[in-house]
Amino acid sequence: MLRIGVLVSGGGTNLQAILDGIDSGKIRNGKVEVVISNNEKAYALERAARRQIPAFCISPKSFADRARFHEALLKKLEEYALDLIVLAGFLVTIPPEMIRRYRNRIINIHPSLIPSFCGVGYYGLKVHEGALKRGVKVTGATVHFVDEGVDSGPILLQRAVEVEPGDTPGTLQKRVMEQAEWVILPKAIDMLANGELPLGEGE
Ligand code: GAR
Repeated sequence: MLRIGVLVSGGGTNLQAILDGIDSGKIRNGKVEVVISNNEKAYALERAARRQIPAFCISPKSFADRARFHEALLKKLEEYALDLIVLAGFLVTIPPEMIRRYRNRIINIHPSLIPSFCGVGYYGLKVHEGALKRGVKVTGATVHFVDEGVDSGPILLQRAVEVEPGDTPGTLQKRVMEQAEWVILPKAIDMLANGELPLGEGE
């Protein structure tokens, strides 16, 4: 059974898609052991608590400096002996020591077809604002391994979504979530848990 930790910052609809995927059997051989948010108000924490999944807020604001925050985050992850860490709308930079420790064992969902509309400054609605501004006709979502760069790690799965006339960042975000994110994130986890995609060893 793949032991999964999910890191979140907001509403947690991708976390919900993972939990639903486990319930429905779309994700085989995986279990969410812990959910961690940097934001105590994240609704995702409530989604986890409702399922009796251990849920914690570890916020940079509670620590004297970034190093101590990173230490606390890593310590909590280690406690749960995780095989896979999923960034499901986690808007905090991942410390290099964590990337090394879990090399090719951390995945991220990004709401565009990387390499478009990704990197520094592209997160959440800003991604869809960028896509609409550029006038692309097709966008989508990407699941990728996390490396030391921003949205630059190896790509695992992508799915395209049509931009429709009259779209706003909000309507486009909703369509990308429904048609792409909530499909490919559970699928990537299932494939990693069942040897259909390769998991790293850590360093
Ligand atoms: C999702 O759209 C996710 O792709 C995006 O944040 C949203 C979180 O929603 N992530 C990024 O932009 C990362 N660069 P959720 O909390 O409802 O899952």
